[in-house]
Amino acid sequence: MNYAGGVDVGSTQTKAVIIDENCRIVARFLTDTGANVIEAAKKVYGGALAAGNIAEDSVGYVVGTGYGRYKVTFGDKQVTEISCHGRGAAHMFPGTRTVIDMGGQDSKAIRVSEDGEIVDFCMNDKCAAGTGRFLGAAAKALGMTLDDLGPTSLRSSKPVKISTTCTVFAESEVLSWLGKGKSVEDILWGVHKSIATRSFGLLRRVGLLDEITFAGGVANNPGMIKALEEAIDKKLNVSNESHYMGALGAALFAMDALKAGEVAVRVEA
Ligand SMILES: Nc1ncnc2c1ncn2[C@@H]1O[C@H](COP(=O)(O)OP(=O)(O)OP(=O)(O)O)[C@@H](O)[C@H]1O
Ligand SMILES: [Mg+2]
Repeated sequence: MNYAGGVDVGSTQTKAVIIDENCRIVARFLTDTGANVIEAAKKVYGGALAAGNIAEDSVGYVVGTGYGRYKVTFGDKQVTEISCHGRGAAHMFPGTRTVIDMGGQDSKAIRVSEDGEIVDFCMNDKCAAGTGRFLGAAAKALGMTLDDLGPTSLRSSKPVKISTTCTVFAESEVLSWLGKGKSVEDILWGVHKSIATRSFGLLRRVGLLDEITFAGGVANNPGMIKALEEAIDKKLNVSNESHYMGALGAALFAMDALKAGEVAVRVEA
């Protein structure tokens, strides 16, 4: 019973992390959330156990987070994703005061105290224009994979100015720039810059205290890292575990509960 688990059921991707008593990540797993949210949660948790060669009964406590946290039927407790992203970021980068989480459906700016407590947060859940979905719409219009977007955008010399503020129109704007003869590189860099501008607005609302940590799946995109750093004129903390920041935070809350001997509160599916 020395391990603790965190499962972050996002609107787009589901992530699981298992940590040991020293709060080190020993296993992780990720899948697309898809239509069956309960199955996605089970799949990532089973995948993480298998990846770490960990027996299920040696995990003493599991916390679910993300929009589908109540679908983690094997979880012992649920914690909001704001708390989990703040906690995960402060653990991974102890100097963190501000977190920007860019996921598939929404973006969140979170301010944490020196002790890693949540002080304030702000999210753009009503509009996807600053999120992975906007990038997804651009990828679809250009017939590209998400992985290629960032590296391609970094080859731009003259970004176009993306004016649409709505994901629904992103595809048609991208196509119209293509029709005007603009290069894929310049269109994509324009898309990244437009998302970065929106995220900057979100960050300003919680205050842009150093250090700023980039969390969520969009942190895998090198174009987005550069565009955000240019928009805020500061370096960001980014790790190749950034996508797992929320799941890590959940696992850390699970380890707290395990060490405190808390009783599990299971949810009904
Ligand atoms: N390798 C990659 N390169 C570029 N972008 C990526 C990569 N992997 C994931 N993404 C982006 O990250 C998004 C998913 O991020 P994440 O898992 O943080 O979202 P989520 O938690 O499901 O969503 P939300 O928090 O909005 O509910 C994808 O939609 C995609 O845009
Ligand atoms: Mg998320």
